[in-house]
Amino acid sequence: MEITSLIDRAISVLRNNDTGVFTKPGPHQYPHQWNWDSALIALGLSHFDLPRAKSEIRALLSGQWGDGMLPSVVYHSIPSDYFPNPEFWQIKNSPSAPSVPTTGITQPPLLATIVRIIHSRQPTPDFVQEVYPALLRWHRWLHTDRDADDTDLACIIHPWESGTDDSPRWLHLFEAIRPEAVPEFQRGDTRYVVAIERPNRTEYERFIYLIDVFRKLNYTPADLLAHSPFLAQDVLFNAILFRADEDLRTLAIELGQPTDEIDGWIKSMRKNFNDRFWDEETGLYYDFDLRSGSPIHVNTISTFLPLFGGLPSKDQARRLVEDHLLNPAEYAPAAEVRHWVTSTAKTEPTWEPRRYWRGPAWVITNWFVIEGLQRYDYHDLAEPIRQDTLDLVALSGFREYYDSRDGSGCGSTDFSWSAALTLELLKSPSLVHEK
Ligand code: DGY
Repeated sequence: MEITSLIDRAISVLRNNDTGVFTKPGPHQYPHQWNWDSALIALGLSHFDLPRAKSEIRALLSGQWGDGMLPSVVYHSIPSDYFPNPEFWQIKNSPSAPSVPTTGITQPPLLATIVRIIHSRQPTPDFVQEVYPALLRWHRWLHTDRDADDTDLACIIHPWESGTDDSPRWLHLFEAIRPEAVPEFQRGDTRYVVAIERPNRTEYERFIYLIDVFRKLNYTPADLLAHSPFLAQDVLFNAILFRADEDLRTLAIELGQPTDEIDGWIKSMRKNFNDRFWDEETGLYYDFDLRSGSPIHVNTISTFLPLFGGLPSKDQARRLVEDHLLNPAEYAPAAEVRHWVTSTAKTEPTWEPRRYWRGPAWVITNWFVIEGLQRYDYHDLAEPIRQDTLDLVALSGFREYYDSRDGSGCGSTDFSWSAALTLELLKSPSLVHEK
């Protein structure tokens, strides 16, 4: 497909999903404003409509909680058939809840990185000044209300906070969670997407059970840390947070703001990240279950996110790339089909090529991998993955994810971040890591 036509089609996906206030991640499946989707959508919008990119970010920040949390979804006042709806979350019981309806949990903190990237290309000092305090408050909340063990690593209390909901790395934690009673609910997510591409019922019941626990605790941060049956330190989440802390620091310097607090987070995370997550024997990063106090030995795409954060040493990076990313038994596609990068290593018994985070390839994770490889000077590998990602989108459209065997589309159609990142990959193939 012609590059210009791919650009036009990507722009029209973003325009068609635009409600005027925010951009839906997917026209039917995701009709509200999701946190990390919105950050990437703003990045895509910045390529052709900077004012709209800024208003996307403002709309997301309108959902910020009094304690600093930036929620995973801001519902605004758009009626929809999406479940769980605002009534289900019952956030009004928390004194920190904002006036706009939102969920009571967060999502991977990509926003400061996106603001920095946009600003580094099209300087918008007034906008940075406007949003910086909200970004700082969110990061402070992550490093305090979500720091369970004084490491500055943030913990998550729900798989939805990881952004990779049914990733097999959460299955073991779920085995230990035995819901006494799950509130009655009707799934909405299998209305527009076939069940085989969505999370299993067993996992979904636990997603809902956890929300029920949180609303009974009125979303009080200390109580969530003390009582959430699910409590984990996630490699992907913390690699993104570390990178975003560094980007926040760059913004602080530009604004003439003090950086001591951010410096403290960066210093402590840099040390604790590798101590906590790196497994010397396998050469992989593993998430950590804080309830059992043990690493989660499941090999998924999140092991490559530290490259995006600039956290591994050169030797650790080499092991990740040579032993795992390029290993056809785990991540590398067969030579004749080039559909990078399966979201779970094919060696995992739970690998499934079409089910959500169990194995499909995603444009977002390809982008993280490409960025990480560029950061470690693996340009010869980053470039073909970039090209293959664009081929995938040209072949199957802007889908939510793709069957990692044949590249056929799965999940939502007209998916906004696949369109946004296509613009990014086409227009700025190697610009993100201005050092
Ligand atoms: C969903 O509805 O599947 C989302 O991932 C939850 O935020």
